[in-house]
Amino acid sequence: MTVSWRSRPKLFRICLLLCATGAVSGLFQLQPLKSNVLQGSDARFNATVQGNWQFMTWTFQEILVLSFFSNGDITSSKEQFSARFCSGGDTSCVEFSIHNVSRNESGPVICIVLGGRSETAQLEVQERGTVNIKGENVTVIQGQQVEFLCVTSAWYPTPTVSWTWNGQAVNSSLYNTSSMADGDTFNSTSVLKFQAESNTTVECRATVQALTNPESSSVFLVVVPKPPDWTVLIAVVLSFGGSALLALLIIGIIFCYKRRKEKQTNYQDEMSKRVRTQSQLSVVNAAGQGVYENTGYVSEDQTSVAPSEHTDSGFWQPIGSNVNEVPVYSIHVANDYDNTVDQSGFRKHRHVTIV
Ligand SMILES: *[C@@H]1O[C@H](CO)[C@@H](O)[C@H](O)[C@H]1NC(C)=O
Ligand SMILES: *[C@@H]1O[C@H](CO)[C@@H](O)[C@H](O)[C@H]1NC(C)=O
Ligand SMILES: *[C@@H]1O[C@H](CO)[C@@H](O)[C@H](O)[C@H]1NC(C)=O
Ligand SMILES: *[C@@H]1O[C@H](CO)[C@@H](O)[C@H](O)[C@H]1NC(C)=O
Ligand SMILES: *[C@@H]1O[C@H](CO)[C@@H](O)[C@H](O)[C@H]1NC(C)=O
Ligand SMILES: *[C@@H]1O[C@H](CO)[C@@H](O)[C@H](O)[C@H]1NC(C)=O
Repeated sequence: MTVSWRSRPKLFRICLLLCATGAVSGLFQLQPLKSNVLQGSDARFNATVQGNWQFMTWTFQEILVLSFFSNGDITSSKEQFSARFCSGGDTSCVEFSIHNVSRNESGPVICIVLGGRSETAQLEVQERGTVNIKGENVTVIQGQQVEFLCVTSAWYPTPTVSWTWNGQAVNSSLYNTSSMADGDTFNSTSVLKFQAESNTTVECRATVQALTNPESSSVFLVVVPKPPDWTVLIAVVLSFGGSALLALLIIGIIFCYKRRKEKQTNYQDEMSKRVRTQSQLSVVNAAGQGVYENTGYVSEDQTSVAPSEHTDSGFWQPIGSNVNEVPVYSIHVANDYDNTVDQSGFRKHRHVTIV
């Protein structure tokens, strides 16, 4: 089937001969007109020719590399190039393949069909590089600003870098990408900055047209809840504490005041009692023995004032008064008392003592 390859100039001459005859009419199409192919893979082009044709040639890197006859005969310069009918024996479509393309093989691919019609397509051989987000999984506090660095290496041409959060595209205003040539390939770095809100899978993607699925690298962002705002907490504590303290202080003051008043009244009561006792003693002094035989009086006082208290120390001595004065005073009072030996007499007596 395959016509053996003899010499390139000869084939060229045939082509020129065929082209000169101009026997083809109707539609002639080459697809795709631009093909992006990864290095190491195959590039394929389809030539569609309507009507009868006998012969077509494929030129690659300015060399006629393959001749195809409508009866299926092929003349190929290298194993790297092949051609076949697109489907079955349908002569209207021919598929031309370049196998294992390499980076330096980018360029035009020209198909010429008998009759002088030619179509040109462009082949671009691209390179898949690597993608890496620098660093491990990150743990941050909610609301904190986070920064991720994605480095891509050895791509051709410059890859398109994008980021995703849990699979959703990140607004491009949140990242910057810059690239630099590294020999005949490109490296790039992309910086993504945002405020951490929730646990997120952060992914960096790099792609070129020849790739159907982008290359990617991802890390996990763990967001821990924000600790309480200490300034606010302190302010709250201070204000609450302050008012509580104030309230306590007020309560304390009121309490102390009450206590004091109570004491004062107690003091006055006691004073009066003591004075009564004192006057009793005075009565004793003046009228001799037997005060405690006055059962009515003692029983009245027994509950609050122990009898020993005044018997041991003698007289109760009011502040500012003099011991020596007391008897004199008392004698006088006692005399009063002698005159009025009843409750009213006591009252009168107390009145005097307070002065
Ligand atoms: C593809 O071509 C490269 C050189 O361009 C060669 O090293 C490699 O072995 C080839 N691979 C295949 C599968 O032919
Ligand atoms: C991206 O962010 C910019 C500014 O922050 C905003 O104007 C724009 O609408 C955003 N785009 C999308 C798709 O959310
Ligand atoms: C991207 O770069 C521009 C200019 O250098 C800067 O204003 C912007 O803040 C950068 N954005 C990010 C996300 O780094
Ligand atoms: C490109 O990336 C590779 C691998 O990371 C590195 O060795 C090389 O130095 C980089 N080139 C440039 C120009 O940054
Ligand atoms: C993120 O995940 C960690 C556990 O992996 C969990 O403890 C934490 O509460 C999560 N944070 C949020 C904001 O959901
Ligand atoms: C990052 O987090 C993911 C999900 O929790 C986990 O599967 C992965 O092992 C972690 N990677 C590293 C380097 O810790």
